[in-house]
Amino acid sequence: MSKQVRKAVLPVAGLGTRFLPVTKTIPKEMLPVLSKPLIQYAVEEALSAGIEEILFVHARGKESIEDYFDYAPDVEIRLQESGKKDVLEEIRAIVPEAGKYAFVRQLNPKGFGHAVLCARAWIGCEPFAVILPDDLVMSDTPAIAQMIEAYDISMGNMPALLNVPKEETNRYGIINPVSSGDHHKLIKAKGIVEKPHPDSTPSSLAVLGRYILHPEIFTALSNQQPGVGGEIQLTDALDAMIPAYGLTGMVIEGHRFDCGSVEGMVAAQVAFSLKEPKLASKVKLLINPWL
Ligand code: UTP
Repeated sequence: MSKQVRKAVLPVAGLGTRFLPVTKTIPKEMLPVLSKPLIQYAVEEALSAGIEEILFVHARGKESIEDYFDYAPDVEIRLQESGKKDVLEEIRAIVPEAGKYAFVRQLNPKGFGHAVLCARAWIGCEPFAVILPDDLVMSDTPAIAQMIEAYDISMGNMPALLNVPKEETNRYGIINPVSSGDHHKLIKAKGIVEKPHPDSTPSSLAVLGRYILHPEIFTALSNQQPGVGGEIQLTDALDAMIPAYGLTGMVIEGHRFDCGSVEGMVAAQVAFSLKEPKLASKVKLLINPWL
């Protein structure tokens, strides 16, 4: 596996308006699929892909994310006393080795691109991964590992891609493809546009929340004016870099759940529970009367 990509950025500063009212007080990334919060799936994906250091770009009201990766002495003492060693080990494994995780605040929710820009000092001059925890991918090989395996710095920026129905293009960043080259999963792009109308979309190849970014992205982002929704869009910076650095999307093997939306979250709960041997048959019985 490529050792070029050692660091991952997890932007978690968004307001989560599609999941109100719960996101008034609970960060979207702390919503659980089964008993684990979305943020833990993202961290596990990064670590299993060989990522060594993780930066969380968070915000006011998201302190529970930082607490989640800290020790919980009261709970641990109770588990120790009651001899629940397995659970104790499981919750201790969430805590990182010293210095492996860092947190920076995005002071204003100026958009996803602006959240990535907040990682500039921490990343320095190396390519890095970006994982959006609310895009949960169920796959044999973790999505970001598939990308790290295929990535080479000469590719410039690499977003993960999935094919979406044409009528849904106005919900995604969409690439304008040039060719798929020798490798049918790697698709070179000559452009990328945020949320195009289905009538004028350049393709149905949508970007999902996994990227490997060239460090020049920070210069491009710092020159970016607000785009769609009045936010600093990563899509616009990716597009601006194409002439000098290129853009190669990768079609990911796996199923993606948009857990930033209620319907995507419900689908993820069902799919993940049916994959869990201890739960599958019980869940089938439970949902059967409602079908
Ligand atoms: P979304 O587009 O899903 O926005 O952000 P959101 O605010 O989280 O949710 P909705 O659309 O209002 O329901 C995509 C990713 O970018 C992060 C989010 O946390 C999410 O991981 N983000 C977005 C930031 O970190 N900062 C921002 O200013 C905006």
